[in-house]
Amino acid sequence: MTAKKDTSPAEEIKTLRDQLNQWAHEYYVLDDPSVPDSEYDRAFQQLQALEEAHPDLVTANSPTKRVGGKPLEKFDEVKHQVPMLSLQTLTDEDQFSAFDSRIAKQLNRKSNNLSLFDSESVEIEYCCELKFDGLAISLLYENGQLVRAATRGDGEVGEDVTANAMTIRSIPLELLGKGWPRTLEVRGEVCVTKHEFEKLNKKRADADERPFANPRNLAAGSMRQLDSKLAAQRPLVFFCYGIGHIEGGRVSDRQRTRLSHLQDWGFRVAKEVKTAKGTAGCLAYFHDIGEKRDRLPYEIDGVVFKVNSIEFQDMLGFRAREPAWAVALKYPPSEEITVLNEVDWQVGRTGALTPVAKLEPVQVGGVTVSNATLHNIDEIRRLDIRVGDSVVIYRAGDVIPKVVRTVPERRPKDAGEINLPTECPVCGSEILRADDGVVARCTGGLICGAQQREAIKHFASRRAMDIDGLGDKLVDALVDQELIETVADLYRLKAEDVAGLERMGEKSAANLIEALEASKKTPLSRFLFALGILQIGEETAKALAEAFGELDSIRNAPLLLFLQVPDVGGEVAKAIAAFFAEEHNEKVIDGLLNAGVEPQSNGTPSRRFVDTLTLANFLSSAKTLGMPLSGVGTKTLETLGRHYRHLDALLKAVDKGEDDSGVKAGTLEKLAEGLKADDWRKTLKDAQAYADKLAKKAPAGGADERPLEGETWVLTGTLARLTRDQAQQHLEALGAKVSGSVSGKTARVVAGESAGSKLDKARSLDVDVIDEEEFIGFLAEHGIKLED
Ligand code: IVH
Repeated sequence: MTAKKDTSPAEEIKTLRDQLNQWAHEYYVLDDPSVPDSEYDRAFQQLQALEEAHPDLVTANSPTKRVGGKPLEKFDEVKHQVPMLSLQTLTDEDQFSAFDSRIAKQLNRKSNNLSLFDSESVEIEYCCELKFDGLAISLLYENGQLVRAATRGDGEVGEDVTANAMTIRSIPLELLGKGWPRTLEVRGEVCVTKHEFEKLNKKRADADERPFANPRNLAAGSMRQLDSKLAAQRPLVFFCYGIGHIEGGRVSDRQRTRLSHLQDWGFRVAKEVKTAKGTAGCLAYFHDIGEKRDRLPYEIDGVVFKVNSIEFQDMLGFRAREPAWAVALKYPPSEEITVLNEVDWQVGRTGALTPVAKLEPVQVGGVTVSNATLHNIDEIRRLDIRVGDSVVIYRAGDVIPKVVRTVPERRPKDAGEINLPTECPVCGSEILRADDGVVARCTGGLICGAQQREAIKHFASRRAMDIDGLGDKLVDALVDQELIETVADLYRLKAEDVAGLERMGEKSAANLIEALEASKKTPLSRFLFALGILQIGEETAKALAEAFGELDSIRNAPLLLFLQVPDVGGEVAKAIAAFFAEEHNEKVIDGLLNAGVEPQSNGTPSRRFVDTLTLANFLSSAKTLGMPLSGVGTKTLETLGRHYRHLDALLKAVDKGEDDSGVKAGTLEKLAEGLKADDWRKTLKDAQAYADKLAKKAPAGGADERPLEGETWVLTGTLARLTRDQAQQHLEALGAKVSGSVSGKTARVVAGESAGSKLDKARSLDVDVIDEEEFIGFLAEHGIKLED
């Protein structure tokens, strides 16, 4: 809705706020939005703009305040006007029956004088509610405006969490409707849906952050967050279940009706709330909700029965810290303790390994649980879980139960440490773990049974080998019929084998064989991508193909060489090397080549790549990979590299203990030490030998082919022996950038005849200037001869 032109800003703001509050109510409380999000966003932005233009009209409870404010130093204390009590909890149905009889008796006795009942057999009416498993809070409204939110604390004194509560969209900042008392304290529970809980935990696990143990912890942790901007990002919901203190007005004398009024005033009330009479009615409710419990979007740990009549409640009064008129009847707990017998490692479709806890079977929330997830090895370490430990299992709804913590007091002496397997439990290939990621993966992508189908689907996909007609379903069928096991088997398929499959005819079988044939001459980069090497996306595959120029060179290259490929870091290099080191993978590749697959490539390594295979680069890569060279910095390694140029020369110097490169004394001793450790001498020698071999294959061009890489040159004035364009081309061929203006970053200025302001500027900035003669000499030094 758009405010009319002739209204004042104050009126416009009021209209927008009311509209936004109404829409938020429909969306967050009623789950029934009447306008699309875009409409809400537009009005919200309109209000934001108006408030910015009229700061005097900004109020504390504007919908624009929902995003959180400045972080607090600490929470202030809040004394509750009416203490926030707890509930007596019952765990079986007989206990409830006894409770109900006692209430009936007491009311009968107490009401004799008032003659409310004429017999003891009358059934008491209860308001039946869900017992949400979240965090209890109290909300104080003055004249319909939210003025304060507080946690329950010890029941007497809680913490002021107003800023956080304001970010919860299902908490009205202004009450809707009418008839509310001047002062109204609303009580209820801050919760989070099971779905949002799982989602957030997954995100946290991916970001290597500690997951929350259960939705209650998430709700509590979020409400006790000093930075309300962070709380605003948590998917919290407020369900109200009662009224605390009131002044200046009256509320209904029935709990059920009170909840309806609260709903009218803008609060969310569980739609499962209803009234029931006597033990039979209440237990039927208990069973009904128990049956639905797993499907409810929120975690509940029981139901609450409250005597519906407030007058009766007052008569019954309180006992110690609990009201005598209400009781919680709990469902079997969703957490239970049992013993961890063993850990199984399961391999997922992408090769990711997940630890699965094998448990002593235990009932959790009415279901027998014998398996639970342990997330990943880091989580196991963080929780310090060992085989034989007593562990707490948590189960929410239909999601996979999980191990949330151990019970250290019960740890047996022989509790065994849990380790990541070194070999894939399915195929025996090496397990690789990215240091920056928590996921451990099997490297047997092409042969691992667990990954087989995914590997083949990926291989055939459009961006990989692009095998027309070989979709996911067909791959499944081919594997099911045992016609293929690996991607190499694809090229041994015969039309008649395929034609026999369901929903395949002769024509489509022939088409498939043709598509397979056509895919044989795919570019090397696509072939590499199709192999599904961990961490290797299309870009890295291209870079590899471009650098090495042929498959064979890649297959045999040592790790240190992969590290010189643009954008390939330690993890990626390790993944590539591990893939080709795996014999099974090699077999599949041989199978592909033998079946006629012929990846297309240059056939020679690129000059640019070969030029990066320098001694300095090898040394610094070795250091990154862990060669012990502490105290020897990159600069020193560069100096050594430039001076000795070849590993053989450096090794000779190291072995003799004579250094003439000018680096700090003692450096060569440190190098000698480093070379001894973990066979680094051999690793470097292998890399140098491989680099030498590639250098011979690479197209001609000196090692200094692009000596001006990274430099910016400026051409000015008139050149006699070559045009500006030619000069620019030569400079660019040497790696320089040519710019039109001089700055402090300019490497050199070539000044021809009658050079003007650029030359002056170069001089004033102390930039190196050469004339045409010197320039031609420079080009000649770099192998560029000008025609006469
Ligand atoms: S009534 C005076 N109703 O359970 C009665 N409590 O053990 C006090 N809870 O701290 C609360 N759902 O956080 C009530 N429908 C419900 C509830 C509920 C959850 C929580 C509440 C309270 C605890 C009492």
